Amino acid sequence: MDFQIIQNVSYIIASALFILGIKRLGKESTAVSGNFMSALGMFIAVSVTAISFVDPLVAIVGIALGAVIGSVIALKVKMTSIPEMVALFNGFGGLATYLIAWSEFTNGNLGAAQHVLIMLTVFIGGVTFSGSLIAYGKLSEKISIGKGSIISNLFVFVLYAAVLFLGFAVATPWLPEAIIFSNYFIFLLGLALLAGIGFVLPIGGGDMPVVISLLNSLSGIAAAFAGLLLLNNVLIVAGSLVGASGLILTVIMAKAMNRSIGNILFVGYASAASTSAKTQEQGEVKPITTDDAYLILENASSVLVVPGYGMAVAQAQHVVRELGELLENNGTEVKYGIHPVAGRMPGHMNVLLAEANVSYDLLVEPDDVNPSMDTVDVAIVIGANDVVNPSATEEPGSPIYGMPIIEVHNAKTVFVLKRSMSSGFAGVENPLFFRPNTRMLFGDAKSSISALVSEFKD
Ligand code: TAP
Repeated sequence: MDFQIIQNVSYIIASALFILGIKRLGKESTAVSGNFMSALGMFIAVSVTAISFVDPLVAIVGIALGAVIGSVIALKVKMTSIPEMVALFNGFGGLATYLIAWSEFTNGNLGAAQHVLIMLTVFIGGVTFSGSLIAYGKLSEKISIGKGSIISNLFVFVLYAAVLFLGFAVATPWLPEAIIFSNYFIFLLGLALLAGIGFVLPIGGGDMPVVISLLNSLSGIAAAFAGLLLLNNVLIVAGSLVGASGLILTVIMAKAMNRSIGNILFVGYASAASTSAKTQEQGEVKPITTDDAYLILENASSVLVVPGYGMAVAQAQHVVRELGELLENNGTEVKYGIHPVAGRMPGHMNVLLAEANVSYDLLVEPDDVNPSMDTVDVAIVIGANDVVNPSATEEPGSPIYGMPIIEVHNAKTVFVLKRSMSSGFAGVENPLFFRPNTRMLFGDAKSSISALVSEFKD
């Protein structure tokens, strides 16, 4: 059979696997098979493409080498470092498209449409590559230069200059010869890389997960452009899927943080929070000991556990699962309320609880649990703060007003486990801590939960 036909049929199968894979990644119960389907689709696409260009033996060696490097990195990475790994993968995706467009440019003989595609691919690929490296550096706390420093201002200036230059580069087929200088492409190659640094450098570390999701989308868009350049159908499909899904995730995360994407990219939280720095007398704080907390939990018939960033810091997920099991053995109904932006990366709480073998069936979303919150006997807030802050629903002036929350303040009793009265990521005070039905269990979350576990076991 003609290789062209085999190639096209393989591309259709790979595209179908990508689409089915992404669909199945939407639910925890089907995510593992979704991941496998997408990987199989990529394997088919890469193999067929490689064989069409090089000797099959060279293709096999190349694919095997890539598979070994990728597997070692993925096996070694800690769950909490997944965003850093994704940042690097996005970056290499951007670099690949940047190099493809560069090589197409040097092949010469370009029509106007190809020229425009090459300029856009080089720019978006270059921004994705260098921006992702900066995002990796910020997440792993290797780079701490932020908004307002001379260095970041300088790079922001380069970013704007690069965007202007991109307009020039895209328009070159239509410009008179006299005003096109011969090395403009080399200039764009360098500017694209500097622009990526200027794009990500001023954004705070806490906003990096949103930026990484946006860079993921950009790497997909650059790949789709590269697919158009090479007239490669599977690259167009895969690039468009990554571009669209990355953008959807970015919007979902921004919405769940009650921020616009523009605010995340160009303003930052600190300035939003400082505009409403009103501190008011909220009422009395009522601490509780683990002994008293145990007595209340022992008699509770329903408990909602709401984990947040502090559970990740304390690495308390295993003792949380143990407490949940002890409560269930005691006849209590236990659920885990998961907020979409609890923690510092998408799915942070899901990953931690999965690591501790908490069943997916026990996880509930805010919309599932909020309407019946008044029937919950005890809500245990473990290192969560912003995602349970009632100001988001009650105080129109608050920087987090409008952010969906888990409304634990409507439960009969609330235990808040944290070390102090300090605020969370958004830097706003939390009136939940002063509510009459709230008891503060101060201390490291792992120590507090371990103490409760010991009480149940005694
Ligand atoms: P936060 O509002 O950040 O609050 C975390 C709380 O954990 C803090 O108040 C801290 O209080 C407590 N804590 C820290 N270490 C602890 C320990 N060892 N033991 C017990 N408590 C500890 O967390 P959240 O409620 O999960 O909200 C997430 C925030 O991050 C939101 O504002 C969200 O918009 C933002 N954000 C999320 C993401 C994603 S994708 N998830 C990305 C970027 C930003 P103490 O210091 O008093 O202990």
